Amino acid sequence: MKPELDLERAKKVGTKTMDEIWIQGGRSLKGTVSCGGSKNATLPILAAVLLAEGRYRLTNVPHLMDVTTMVKMLGRFGVTSERPDTHTMVIDTRQQQNAEAPYDLVKTMRASIYVLGPLLARYGEARVSLPGGCAWGPRPVDLHIKGLEALGARVDIDHGYIAAYAPDGLRGGTISFDVSSVGATGNVLMAAVTAAGETVIENAACEPEIDALATFLTAMGARIEGIGQARLVVHGVHDLHPADAAMIPDRIEAGTLLAAAAITGGDVEVTDVNPAHLGAVLTKFESAGASLERSDTSVRLRAPERPLPMKVITQPYPGFPTDMQAQFMALLSVADGASTIADTIYHDRFTHVAELQRLGADIRVEGNTAFIRGAESLSGAPVMATDLRASAALILAGLVAGGETRVSRVYHLDRGYERLEAKLAALGASIRRVRP
Ligand code: EPZ
Repeated sequence: MKPELDLERAKKVGTKTMDEIWIQGGRSLKGTVSCGGSKNATLPILAAVLLAEGRYRLTNVPHLMDVTTMVKMLGRFGVTSERPDTHTMVIDTRQQQNAEAPYDLVKTMRASIYVLGPLLARYGEARVSLPGGCAWGPRPVDLHIKGLEALGARVDIDHGYIAAYAPDGLRGGTISFDVSSVGATGNVLMAAVTAAGETVIENAACEPEIDALATFLTAMGARIEGIGQARLVVHGVHDLHPADAAMIPDRIEAGTLLAAAAITGGDVEVTDVNPAHLGAVLTKFESAGASLERSDTSVRLRAPERPLPMKVITQPYPGFPTDMQAQFMALLSVADGASTIADTIYHDRFTHVAELQRLGADIRVEGNTAFIRGAESLSGAPVMATDLRASAALILAGLVAGGETRVSRVYHLDRGYERLEAKLAALGASIRRVRP
């Protein structure tokens, strides 16, 4: 077996590293671990820099493949960036020009669609590849398009591209989303901030990452009322200017680290988090029998001997997040009883089920609901990651499975977690990254 791969070298090589993560289960995690900056706040904020010329300084930026992909996308528009340190990014848009967001990049990361609103607002036209599907099914963009049309844009779909035009500039309008959409809310918000007149967005997503985007836009000179609420009112302004910002903590990484404590009967404090962003998730950890201690910036979880079963239903924020669904499926796979998990956001986000079953989990899926009978124990096996949060779920299950679990295709994990295996190892897990 080759020596442990130098991930930084692999990232520099830029290959889709076929690393694996090997875990010897059975260790209880103990100690303190820091949570990184939010991937899902960083991505729209990086797109927002396209709105104004100048230099931006972003801190607490996570070092992740999706962030690297977004920076590469910005590079297509002449935007340059440097990292004075691992988690700081200086962005320069003074040489920016309009260009097409190409399929080869957009297909690797759906969030690339966030450049659509800013490009249209800045240049009066934008051409962005349709994102295509993802591991668990189609990912429509109809709400993004309807939102931009409500601001006066003409939007065509041709040859797999979204072609949006607003030659006379965007004008304020009213958008009432029938489905709460994080991405569509972000895109429309970025398009509306310099539209002529007032824009009202009803049933806007209230995720903390959208609040962070709205706060960043306000720092750039935008006028937005109702931040944090489902009704946003935007008063268009003529000019925006660069701003600096610190990324909010990544609530999903925090939830994943706490789930690692919960599934191993451990005692872990996660720092540099905002507990207020984790309300529904913390409630569910308490339903599982965990005891929690909260401060303004940390959560400590003391796990029960064995998790209690429960009913989970994913909802838009502040409900239980779909991005924690897979991780809780791993946790409930060893609960003392029968649980159900219904995903109302993505009805088919269950590609992790078959892999968890290889570890001995007793899960049956009907429609958008998984029925889980908690097993006394899981047994280690080779499994394959299929998407970002599924990767995390398999690692969590490996922490508690008897023997060795080998998770392959961890490039999915690297999209949204920074050195997760190192953080878990520091808490006592027997886990390491290897190249097969
Ligand atoms: C964001 O994706 C997140 N990604 C996802 O996290 C997260 O799962 C999702 O929001 C839901 O919370 C980023 O923030 C980069 P949506 P997004 O638009 O914006 C439907 C992760 O693990 N919909 O809120 O693409 C859609 O099919 C990722 O970090 C339409 O019908 O999600 C879904 O059922 C995975 N038409 C629902 O809305 C549209 O035009 C919510 O999707 C757009 C969405």
